[in-house]
Amino acid sequence: MGQREFFDRMAETWDRVCQHDPGKIIEILDMVDLRPGDAILDVGTGTGILIPFLLPRIGPNGAITAIDISENMIAVARRKCRSDAVEFMVGDVLTTELPPASFDAVICYSVFPHFNDKEQSIARLGSYLKPGGELVVCHSQSRDEINQRHKSAGAEVASDNLPDASEIVRYFVLTGIGPKSIIDDERMFVVVGRKPGA
Ligand SMILES: C[S@@+](CC[C@H](N)C(=O)[O-])C[C@H]1O[C@@H](n2cnc3c(N)ncnc32)[C@H](O)[C@@H]1O
Repeated sequence: MGQREFFDRMAETWDRVCQHDPGKIIEILDMVDLRPGDAILDVGTGTGILIPFLLPRIGPNGAITAIDISENMIAVARRKCRSDAVEFMVGDVLTTELPPASFDAVICYSVFPHFNDKEQSIARLGSYLKPGGELVVCHSQSRDEINQRHKSAGAEVASDNLPDASEIVRYFVLTGIGPKSIIDDERMFVVVGRKPGA
């Protein structure tokens, strides 16, 4: 079974099994420069956990592209969503043709460890950002907790590793994204970078 099938199988129970602390999600999104009218790429949206937190920040003229490789995850996310501002896509964010320089924020919430080539992934995700846009790698758990969880969750994700924040900053810098803010503590892991310009 591959990673896609692994997440397909978990989709219907995901919201019961995975408890997200709303306070931490708000704290993470407060670190990102989100404004009314913004276009956001929600990478690995899963069951769309972030969507209700994002919609009020971008207002009626904003737009969210919510992408996931798992068809079943997207089916659950779609079922829960009442907003026309959200476009759902089934696909691999690293190979799907998305318009370059078109998003004000690209948010990877609980998905970055699953990318094989981390440096390439950051370069690709950065290419989707408008000048002045922000790239976010974030988790509402500590790095240790994430890496331990993957080791015990199944062979499909056992080696999916969250690198330390300095490594992610190095990938940012290599692709021209400036580091903006970092939290790497026992509560959460957040790295925010900003593409120069605008
Ligand atoms: C750990 S889950 C997190 C889901 C959601 N962000 C959350 O926090 O509840 C990771 C999600 O990323 C998706 N995913 C993994 N690799 C991906 C890729 N290359 N492109 C798009 N989605 C991906 C998986 O299918 C899965 O739904």
